[in-house]
Parts: sequence; structure tokens; C-alpha cells
Amino acid sequence: MQEILLLLVAYMLGSIPTSVWVSKHFFGIDIREYGSGNAGATNTFRVLGPKWGSIVMLVDVSKGAAAALLVFTLHKYALHDSMQRTNLMIGLGLAAVVGHIFPLWAGFKGGKGVATLFGMILAIQPAVAGLCVGVFILVLYLTRFVSLSSILSGVAFAILILFIFNDDSTFYRIFSIAVALMLVLTHQKNINRILKGTESKVPILKFRDR
Ligand code: G3P
Repeated sequence: MQEILLLLVAYMLGSIPTSVWVSKHFFGIDIREYGSGNAGATNTFRVLGPKWGSIVMLVDVSKGAAAALLVFTLHKYALHDSMQRTNLMIGLGLAAVVGHIFPLWAGFKGGKGVATLFGMILAIQPAVAGLCVGVFILVLYLTRFVSLSSILSGVAFAILILFIFNDDSTFYRIFSIAVALMLVLTHQKNINRILKGTESKVPILKFRDR
């Protein structure tokens, strides 16, 4: 029962539509009508600049981390490390990611869940989160596509869990595959744009074109 209540809290936490609220309250626009149309940190960087992009990214990452860490509010999970604790952290983080993609407070039209997913992984397994950031930065440097970097870091996450870190929890292994699939699914429009050659690239790395 307590777990179900926490899952609801995690969903509501993930539902905080940071980029939508920032764009509406500070700029009088709806971020979903500009740039890629995505309610996420990348589009906030693109449309409103690095300051607001960083703020949105920080809050969206924190939503995932905070949701997973809600597990420590329940006495029976807080005391000692266990597989049950990890499983509930995954459930809570995923509830926040679902909230981010389908936000209760913004007409169920949210972002792609990348930053919030990253936040929950950071809370569960920081070393793996760090390696995923490495993959993200490498792909971003090579391609300048944030979307492709997000997708491939999700694929890297699954590979790391399935073959390298070899986690004992079946739920965690299934979750790692779900992360990769979820990122491919939420990035369908980006994948189409990459194939058509119309996906926007990060301007800050333009020097690579010279
Ligand atoms: O955070 C989502 C990112 O991977 C792509 O965002 O705005 O380019 O569709 P965007």
C-alpha cells in the first residue's frame, strides 16, 4: 500500500513540466510550439538558451533521482541494501519518467524522458550513469546530434547491465532493455529527421565542420 502511494508521488514528481512552466512563466510562450516541439532540456537550450536549458536539465535530472530516492522514506527499505530496494527504486524512477513523458500538470504532453531516466540511474548506480555520460559525450562530439547521443547512451546502458555489470536482478536487466527501447520509441521523430538529414545539430560544436 505504502509502495503504491510512493509510486503515485513519484509520478506526480515526474509530471512537473519544467520546460513548459519556465517557457510560459518567464517568456510567455509554450516550448512545445517551438524548436523540435519537445518539452525537454535540449529544446530549452535550443529555444531559450544555455542558462534556462541548464536549469531545466538540472530539475529534470533531479526529478528522476528524487523519485528513486523516495524509497528511503520507507523504513523497511532504508535499513539495509537489498534487491527489493533496487526494484522499488526502479519502479519509482520509472513512474517519474512516465510522469515526465505524460505529465499530469501539462495535458499529458511532455518530453522524452532522457534527463529523468538519467537521474534515476544516477541514484541507483552512479558508476553506470557516469559511463553512460561518457558515451553521450563521445557520440555528441562525433555527430552533434543530442537525440542520437541519448539513444546510444540508452543502448550502452543496456549493454553495460546485461554483459559487463551483470546485475543479479532479473527486473533490473529487463529494465535496462526497456530503457534502450523506450529511448528508441520516444525518439521516433528524431530518427526520421536524422534519416532525412533535417535533424538539428548542436551549434556549439560547429568547429568540427571546418
Ligand atoms: O532530450 C531529448 C533529446 O534527446 C532530443 O531532444 O529537442 O532534439 O527532440 P530534441
